[in-house]
Amino acid sequence: MSTASASAPGRVNLLGEHTDYNDGFVLPTAIAQQTRVTVEKIRHGFVLDALGERTPFSLEQPPRRQSLRYVYGCLKELQDEGVELPPLAIRVDSDVPMGVGLSSSAALEVATLRALRRLLELDLDDVRLARLAQRAEIRHAGVQCGIMDQMASSLAEPGHMLFLDTRSLARELLPLPPGSAVAVLDSGIARSLAASGYNERRAQCEQAAQELGVRALRDVDDPDRLERLPQPLRRRARHVFSENARVLQARGASAQEFGRLMSASHDSLSKDYEVSTPQLDALVEALRAQPAVYGAKLTGAGFGGACVALCQAGEARAAARAALRAYGAGGRILVA
Ligand code: GLA
Repeated sequence: MSTASASAPGRVNLLGEHTDYNDGFVLPTAIAQQTRVTVEKIRHGFVLDALGERTPFSLEQPPRRQSLRYVYGCLKELQDEGVELPPLAIRVDSDVPMGVGLSSSAALEVATLRALRRLLELDLDDVRLARLAQRAEIRHAGVQCGIMDQMASSLAEPGHMLFLDTRSLARELLPLPPGSAVAVLDSGIARSLAASGYNERRAQCEQAAQELGVRALRDVDDPDRLERLPQPLRRRARHVFSENARVLQARGASAQEFGRLMSASHDSLSKDYEVSTPQLDALVEALRAQPAVYGAKLTGAGFGGACVALCQAGEARAAARAALRAYGAGGRILVA
């Protein structure tokens, strides 16, 4: 075989934000938009064909373009696992919106590794593949991300939620709450993960865990213990504690209850975790004001990007449109 292709979806996280790097619980679902990667054996070197540009690169030094680093990182991780890579042309086609919190980077990593698994007949299961993708992002793209996005892209399905324990990686595909559908809206405010406070939040959580003498914030069982932390560590830890509890409550919840948990998640992300923006707050507010919306929150890391809402089935598009009208310029519907 000299050519192979594979696809992987983006994801939207319904609940469990900034819990994955604290060994906690998450509830993402796959979206319909996908990234497709084709790998072809060539005679010399490596070349990436993406976003209308053909860029030669080498495995000897990290490429300057950020988008190239995800692919480069995947190749390096396979090499570190002892895989011998032939010279390759790699072509990327994607309709996953970029830079809005729908994991376009994880979709690219997972699709790249799936295509290489096929081409090189690698013995790599979906969980190991997700772990390699996460390592590629941490080591080569400079984001200290958790495992949620790569696990979601590798194992989730549209129409189902992936309940995932990010410590044990125990997981279960659950149906959406009865009678509900998901809408995703872009706030129109750009964000940059690596440049944002993401890595700073992660470091604060690690410091909080250390001060509390636990392995990770997931292990805090009494919220009163958080009171002895100095600010802002107390607020950060409070978000992680309450967010984990919300994910556990959400399993099997009605659409109304699930929506309430999503809205509480947003408030906690905004006030305690401080990763929202005035525009994200306004978009969430506009969504919550719609009678057909059960609840809404920012999705992904925050600092801009997209919001997700749980809506009455059949009403998602109309509710998203009405919310956008109230929100004003700059927003757009990504999923509904
Ligand atoms: C980004 C990271 C994930 C997760 C979310 C926040 O998407 O890649 O690992 O931490 O932010 O929930």
